[in-house]
Amino acid sequence: MLRLEGERCSIRPWRAADSGSLLQHANNINVAKHLRDRFPHPYTRKDADVFLRHAVESEDESNLAIEVHGTAVGAIGYVPGRDIERFSAEVGYWLGEAFWGRGIVTEALALVTAYTFDELNMLRLFALPFADNSGSIRVLEKAGYIREGLLRASSVKYDVVKDQALYARTNPAWQPPP
Ligand SMILES: CC(C)(COP(=O)(O)OP(=O)(O)OC[C@H]1O[C@@H](n2cnc3c(N)ncnc32)[C@H](O)[C@@H]1OP(=O)(O)O)[C@@H](O)C(=O)NCCC(=O)NCCS
Repeated sequence: MLRLEGERCSIRPWRAADSGSLLQHANNINVAKHLRDRFPHPYTRKDADVFLRHAVESEDESNLAIEVHGTAVGAIGYVPGRDIERFSAEVGYWLGEAFWGRGIVTEALALVTAYTFDELNMLRLFALPFADNSGSIRVLEKAGYIREGLLRASSVKYDVVKDQALYARTNPAWQPPP
């Protein structure tokens, strides 16, 4: 089973037993307002259970928990593209507000980026933070992602038109599979 170890956090698959901590940290407008609408707010016990049932039953390990001191306090995942974009994946993450500002997601992103490049032969990871999400943009820059552009009026969050920034990191060691 996948486990990536850092100094500040570990990355591992979700477990059914994460329900309580997931609910505690996910039910926060300061988290939800930066994410896609499929991340609900308020975040209910039912939302946590539905998410965990899917994550636990799923075979693939692209939807992962950020664990700190044995507890799941956030999420990080990637969604590979298809067809000609099959070696490129969108990465996303959130962390419980109580843990912000300790370098945890910077480390989590570095761990997941290295894993997808070295073990899964991904060529490119990219992220689309809202252009005013300075914390996430800082995380991406610290993890070696490069700003490629600004997607003007590319999204609407809570009825407000928002730009998204495009950040990406590419794998210099990538080779086509044999
Ligand atoms: C964005 C988020 C993931 C950052 O996680 P984190 O573990 O606190 O990040 P780190 O501690 O590794 O780094 C945060 C950096 O952003 C900086 N930062 C945080 N808020 C900031 C702000 N409003 N303006 C500018 N910089 C900010 C911190 O100072 C730090 O940089 P530094 O190390 O140079 O001081 C977390 O705040 C979060 O989950 N936010 C809500 C969900 C979200 O935005 N997800 C990303 C969607 S694209």
